[in-house]
Amino acid sequence: MGTISNYDRVKELKDFDETKMGVKGVVDSGVETVPKIFIRPSDELLEELKTPCVNLQVPVINFEGIGEKDRYNEVVKEVLDASEKWGFFQVVNHGIPLKVLDNMLQGNQMFHEQDADIKKKFYTRDMAKQVLYQSNYDLYTSKAANWRDTLVVDTSNSGPLDPTELPEICRDAMLEYVDHVLKLSDLLLELLSLGLGLKPDYLKEMECSKGWTLINHYYPACPAPELTLGSSKHADPTFLTVLLQDQIGGLQVIHKNQWVDVQPIPGALVVNIGEILQIMSNHKLKSVYHRVTSNKVGPRISSAFFLKGALSSPKLYGSIKELSEENPVMYREFTLGEFNANFFSRPLDESGFEYLKVSNHGDGKLKEILEV
Ligand code: OGA
Ligand code: NI
Repeated sequence: MGTISNYDRVKELKDFDETKMGVKGVVDSGVETVPKIFIRPSDELLEELKTPCVNLQVPVINFEGIGEKDRYNEVVKEVLDASEKWGFFQVVNHGIPLKVLDNMLQGNQMFHEQDADIKKKFYTRDMAKQVLYQSNYDLYTSKAANWRDTLVVDTSNSGPLDPTELPEICRDAMLEYVDHVLKLSDLLLELLSLGLGLKPDYLKEMECSKGWTLINHYYPACPAPELTLGSSKHADPTFLTVLLQDQIGGLQVIHKNQWVDVQPIPGALVVNIGEILQIMSNHKLKSVYHRVTSNKVGPRISSAFFLKGALSSPKLYGSIKELSEENPVMYREFTLGEFNANFFSRPLDESGFEYLKVSNHGDGKLKEILEV
């Protein structure tokens, strides 16, 4: 009788999945509405997705002159301060040539817009693959599907990248970008190690950059952006994330209990602290909730570089002893394999690491900290 009983969600999800054409395929088929599988739960629809007009901006850090000692020391402080207060910052003059960034964004877009038969060959839900294309890794478990498709390149599971696995259309652009962004990531780990009062190679030696995932999102233009999201609210299951976005906008972060837009800056990279560094730093560094809204214009292109470590390593991770002397340790130790399996066992908007908490801490604390 009611619309609910007429709506076979699982069937619609399967039909969508089997097209192997993602959200882009839905848009290309000419729909003028957002299909029901993408519509946010009715209680969430009441929430306004536009940010309030306030004068808040994620800190922007200029790496120019970082080769000089004085500037280097200032940057250490700025990175620490932003990571404690916002969990997010943008970096300008990071040294990666603009052409390398542009080629990466263009390669990402060309992958998603190429001939359907070639693209479909990469479509799979088998997350053990090093290279895969899919729409919504949590399609069958989330309450609402997100308005985006993704090309994933993952070395955290499967060891060193095999370049021949990469789609030909974006192979060279990706290899060049990864080469640069890995170096920048190691510099960021060094700056954070020093900021925390540790030796400069502490986080590198903890193998934070040993495995990585490059997540190439494609957010098609959306006929009714208020009904759906590009990415649901989440924190990243990483040590650190370096995000390259185009100039369309849509990324929002929570700061002081309100959503703030991350304004695109040409040539900038967005850096955010992931959940594992929050745990290791005993909450000194903050892993903050963020989301992506959909947009009438598009597509929006972004490539997120996730530092995830090597998932098969027997190494145990937990609060760094040197940082926990005054505060009691809040989490038990875990392997990256366990952490990752836990993340993928739940939909994006229900992810989190509360299960690692040692039991003598109040439940409200974590939520409060994630929403700085
Ligand atoms: C992510 C993410 C943001 C974006 O992939 O975890 O938050 O702008 N991406 O695509
Ligand atoms: Ni994210």
